[in-house]
Amino acid sequence: MAKAEDLSLLLVEDEPAHAEAVRRSLAASDMNMEVRAVGTLREYRKAVAARPPDIALLDLVLPDGRALEALTCPPEDAPFPIVVMTSFGNEQTAVAAMKAGAIDYLVKSPETFAQISHTISRALRAWNGLQERRRAEERLNETLQRLRQAVTSTIRVLGLTVEARDPYTAGHQQRTTKLAVAIAEEMGLPAEKIDGLRLAGEIHDLGKISMPSEILSKPSRLTPFEFDLVKTHPRKGYGILKDVELPWPVAEIVYQHHERIDGSGYPRGFQGTEIILEARILAVADTVEAMASHRPYRGAPGIDAALREIEKGKGVIYDDEVASACLRVIREKGFAFDDPAPVKA
Ligand SMILES: [Fe+2]
Repeated sequence: MAKAEDLSLLLVEDEPAHAEAVRRSLAASDMNMEVRAVGTLREYRKAVAARPPDIALLDLVLPDGRALEALTCPPEDAPFPIVVMTSFGNEQTAVAAMKAGAIDYLVKSPETFAQISHTISRALRAWNGLQERRRAEERLNETLQRLRQAVTSTIRVLGLTVEARDPYTAGHQQRTTKLAVAIAEEMGLPAEKIDGLRLAGEIHDLGKISMPSEILSKPSRLTPFEFDLVKTHPRKGYGILKDVELPWPVAEIVYQHHERIDGSGYPRGFQGTEIILEARILAVADTVEAMASHRPYRGAPGIDAALREIEKGKGVIYDDEVASACLRVIREKGFAFDDPAPVKA
């Protein structure tokens, strides 16, 4: 009589003599194993549904199908390990069974039946190893996920820091990001790329952290010298971010967000597709948000003027497809900056 803590084996064998050989061999071994025996694939499925075993031993050819149909690939995705038995014992059968997700196979013979407890022990060890490896991978992925989140939040805090020093652009990065993401979604960019764009958008003006705050909050137009200084912010931002290990090209997007496709942008005068797509998107979103908002030296030209600017520059200084997507999301899809732009004090 099997004890509660014993392992359970589901034996699927339509040949009574073979099933009996397995039972006898197990009874003679030091293994305490409960054996449930069935003779068809249908009964096997019913038995599994009623109570999954710890391991299953399946004859390859059954009256209503082949054992391969019961296998799950990769084997660690199955709820328990499966060992396939074959009477024919050719290489191809074994390879097919292993490829289909069997943890092991055996060729039926009086010798292999006598060794069945060893085969089962070996299969269970292999199975436990696979499960352990899978758990370790899951733990590693969780750790990576947490690290990624930690780095991402740290970078976001940096983004908020620059906004805290620059009251006139407070919220600018957030609103720009909202539009950039809407454009990217309209263009059908993959979620992974959009994640990188979102993070880059939230800190795209990070380089302004190295600008004197008198310049950032100057309530009048900048002198050419001051403007030249402000124009260094993409490079400064890149300098801060370039060594941060991230799964996205955030530093590069920040570096390129003031480039224009005709080469008239800064700091490197990149053209067309030399500018990465995320930066081409950010450039459009940045322009629209800036024009929709008040600046120290001017009022807000407004969203309509911003869209006219994008229309005028479409395919000239702004990426054609990006500009079209931007016009669509605002004019046709009802995009709005819900967080109101700061108004003149
Ligand atoms: Fe900028």
